[in-house]
Order: sequence, then structure tokens, then C-alpha cells
Amino acid sequence: MSESDKYPESSGRRQFVKGVVGSATLVGFGSLGAVTFDALTNRSGAGGGTTEFYGIENTGGPAPRAMPQIVVDIDDEGYVQGRYPEVTEEEVGGQTVQVAEETIGNITYAAEWFQYCGVQGYAGVAPDYDGDDYFRYASEPPYDWQRSEVSVGDRVHIDDFDDYESWGNGIGNDGVGKPAMVTWRSQDTENTIPVQLLRSTRVADMAGQDEEWLSESTDQGMMAWLNKCTHFCCAPGYKASGQAERFAAANQAYCPCHQSVYDPFSIVRSAFVAYPRPEDG
Ligand code: FES
Repeated sequence: MSESDKYPESSGRRQFVKGVVGSATLVGFGSLGAVTFDALTNRSGAGGGTTEFYGIENTGGPAPRAMPQIVVDIDDEGYVQGRYPEVTEEEVGGQTVQVAEETIGNITYAAEWFQYCGVQGYAGVAPDYDGDDYFRYASEPPYDWQRSEVSVGDRVHIDDFDDYESWGNGIGNDGVGKPAMVTWRSQDTENTIPVQLLRSTRVADMAGQDEEWLSESTDQGMMAWLNKCTHFCCAPGYKASGQAERFAAANQAYCPCHQSVYDPFSIVRSAFVAYPRPEDG
């Protein structure tokens, strides 16, 4: 099999990061204004309001927007973690509140990125979560390799993905990328934050194109996104369902609930209105 057979056709896009989708979105964001956004963010520290983010593009089906990326960091020992935005304390109205956000490139990476589909109420999305940021293998993964080679709850190690340049499972093309279903900031919590990991040479290529967000948010070809469909909150999967082939999604992330398709190799900048986290107490 030649290289061109193994990999999906390039879309010809040299610039993988696109701008905010549609001029209407830009206008909407601009008209809301920074004052409103800041007030919403700082009133309680719980976040919420209009939020710009980077995510994997929704290319088909009813989902309204991309699924948000989680910044990947690999530590000195090779364990893979998801970076939680930097937490700072601010005085608001005589109260001290925690705000989780940091600037990466030209965007604010913030906890708000993940505040939809009920995740805004999960313990792990709050700054005071009592645990670490390592990705851990999830239960009942759709991948044979994950069921047989690693154990539920193990921390993810980059070496687990050594065969990512050739890996395949009979869905779509081999060698496009090796996935895993993992959890993030979910130890001893009532709710689990579901995350899809993907290591791919295409991700490494994207990161090498001199684009700050992609080089900062991925590491050694590994990328991560919150695996909550932006339509009705189901869990999509990359090469997780043979059904994906019927919807031209065999090499992409596919949501089995209503056939939405997401392309992890097309990162878009988008915007939505995030929910605030529930007030403490
Ligand atoms: S397409 Fe409807 S929940 Fe994913």
C-alpha cells in the first residue's frame, strides 16, 4: 500500500487553523462586547458567557459547532496530561474568586471551553478539583488494543502509542492515527469528563506549520478533545463504529446518535455561549 493510499487525501489546506466560522459569528461576538463578557466571567468566578475556542471541525450532521480541544502536555516520564487553564484569584465585590484562563497564541484558553452539556457542573471542570491532570484510560473502550494492552484507570503513556504510524482496526485507513478513550480530572468524582485522545503524524504535521495554538495544544502528534457531541451531548468516537463508513467518517470522529461528523485534522476557531458553573454551596 502506498503512502497516498494509507492517508486520506489532503484537503489542500496548508493552513489548518481557520478563523471564526462565518462573518455572522464575528459580528455577534463583537456586538456583545467585552464589558458584558467580563461581568459574566467575574461576577462569581464560575465563568459562562460568550466564549471563543479552538476545536475539531464539525463537517457533517446536525451538530452546531466543533468539539473543544484540551491542551496536551507530556511530562518528562512520558505520561500524557491535559492542561487545565492557569488558576488565578481575583477580588470581586469583596469576595475572592478563582478564574481559570490563560492566553495561548491569540486566544484565551479557559475552563469555559468545556462548560456545556452538563459538564459545567462536573467537579473536574472547577478550579478547586482535588486531583491531578493526567489522562487515564476509560472503561469499556471501543478499541481492542485498549482493552487488551492497558487497564482501566492507568495513566496514559506516550509509549502506548508507539505503533501509531501503522495502527488500524479495520475502520477506514490504517496509519491515520491511533485513538484512545480516556478520562480527565475525574478521580473520585460523581461525573466523568470523557476525552478522546488521538496520536497521528497528521497532527504532528499540523503542529509544525508555525501556528502557535496547534504547536502549544498538541505534543508529539498527540491531541485531545472533550468527547461530548455539541448536538445532544452523546459520546462520538474516532474509528469507534463501523457505521461511520456509511457517512464518509471512517477516518474521522463520528457520533452514532444523529450522525454528526467531526474532523480532527481540521481545527477551527469557533464561539458559543458557555454555561456558568453552578454556584458553590
Ligand atoms: S449527533 Fe446528535 S448527539 Fe451527536
